[in-house]
Amino acid sequence: MNLASSCWAAHERLQLDPANQMIEMAFVRTDYMDKVKPILVTGGSGFIGSNFVLHRLSEFDNPIVNLDKLTYAGNPNNLVSVAADPRYTFVHGDICDAPLIAQLLKEHRPSALVHFAAESHVDRSILGPDAFLKTNIDGTFTLLQAAKADYESLRGEEKIAFRFLHVSTDEVYGTLSPTDSAFRENTPYAPNSPYAASKAASDHLVRAWGHTYDLPTLITNCSNNYGPFQFPEKLIPLTIVNALRGKPLPIYGDGQQVRDWLYVEDHCSAISTILAKGSIGECYNIGGNNQHTKIKAVQAVCTLLDELAPNTENCPHGRLITCVKDRPGHDRRYAIDAHKIQCDLGWFPRQSFEAGLRKTVQWYLRNLNWIEDVATGAYKQWLHENYAERNNGGACA
Ligand code: NAD
Ligand code: TYD
Repeated sequence: MNLASSCWAAHERLQLDPANQMIEMAFVRTDYMDKVKPILVTGGSGFIGSNFVLHRLSEFDNPIVNLDKLTYAGNPNNLVSVAADPRYTFVHGDICDAPLIAQLLKEHRPSALVHFAAESHVDRSILGPDAFLKTNIDGTFTLLQAAKADYESLRGEEKIAFRFLHVSTDEVYGTLSPTDSAFRENTPYAPNSPYAASKAASDHLVRAWGHTYDLPTLITNCSNNYGPFQFPEKLIPLTIVNALRGKPLPIYGDGQQVRDWLYVEDHCSAISTILAKGSIGECYNIGGNNQHTKIKAVQAVCTLLDELAPNTENCPHGRLITCVKDRPGHDRRYAIDAHKIQCDLGWFPRQSFEAGLRKTVQWYLRNLNWIEDVATGAYKQWLHENYAERNNGGACA
């Protein structure tokens, strides 16, 4: 029996067991969610958040309230296709604003708070960690306090249904050697960058609010995402955007760092699965079992661009690959063991790396205006800050 069928067998046995409280609770929750209570999303105008909002509005009936500060990473254009949908409400605000959060919880009575809002880029955290501590730690604390106060006032099925789902990262587990086993939910935390440390701190706060105050929390730790609407500071969109412009494709260090790549729609479906069926207080690792070196990912993007955008002077795009100075404290390898979400909840990713990458490159080629809109003066300033000092060399393998 392969992993998928053995997981499904275990999953079905659980569902048939009438004494299993967890599953009964999951059914209560699904019934209640079917009554189309709103979901409060933070950071819904960023990369994963906007994919999640689009996924929810196309596959579920629940209204969505999106609270977003619209930092450089938040882009209202990502959600222009749903802006007129009566189920969608945008609130421009900060997760550190306690009265605003309390008011939103009272006004919308959401059945869940799904928390994406964060400062999310490792290189930015190295050059300026302050905003990471503020948003990722203080902001999460503010949300937890507001959710706790509101949760205590709930009764009946509203109380049974409520979930606080905190979206986190595999980077909290630190780095792996080539032969280490993949991260499991009980792998000790060992964050290495200011970004990872701030996310680890926020995970610990969420865990404590669940343990001490009985707030019904869920934590997800996901691997590197890629797909539509990703801001071109992260490796894959940066590679696409630079290649289309004939600019160097910067590879930090020897290019052999491994990431476990997941197509963003698979991350969104995993979150919906955990919201509906996850056990309160649990953490779930999410990953696509797609470990690839960074250089391989960049070469794969170049090959796709050679095929899909062949009529430019930049072909073959691979010749633009340029080795630059390494990132300080660069984590060597991330890898996710996703058995728990697969076996307990029956979630599996749908996209292979090849298919997901093709869809991603096609999306960027069809949305050149989106790239133009985000490549503002602030973006150019960031490229200058991050790359000007790196150009004196790395050594690609
Ligand atoms: P992103 O940087 O693209 O978007 C972050 C969003 O949060 C933006 O819309 C921004 O405006 C908003 N925001 C920032 N500070 C805010 C504040 N104080 N108040 C309200 N809104 C604020 O990030 P992303 O890549 O979409 O990541 C979303 C979440 O998923 C983050 O928590 C991140 O740690 C986690 N995550 C990301 C990845 C990945 O590969 N991108 C992988 C695993 C986990
Ligand atoms: P990134 O997309 O920033 O994600 P993370 O650091 O959260 O994994 O980077 C992915 C990998 O690509 C990581 O090993 C750093 C590397 N990288 C480069 O080599 N060059 C670049 O210009 C960037 C942005 C990242």
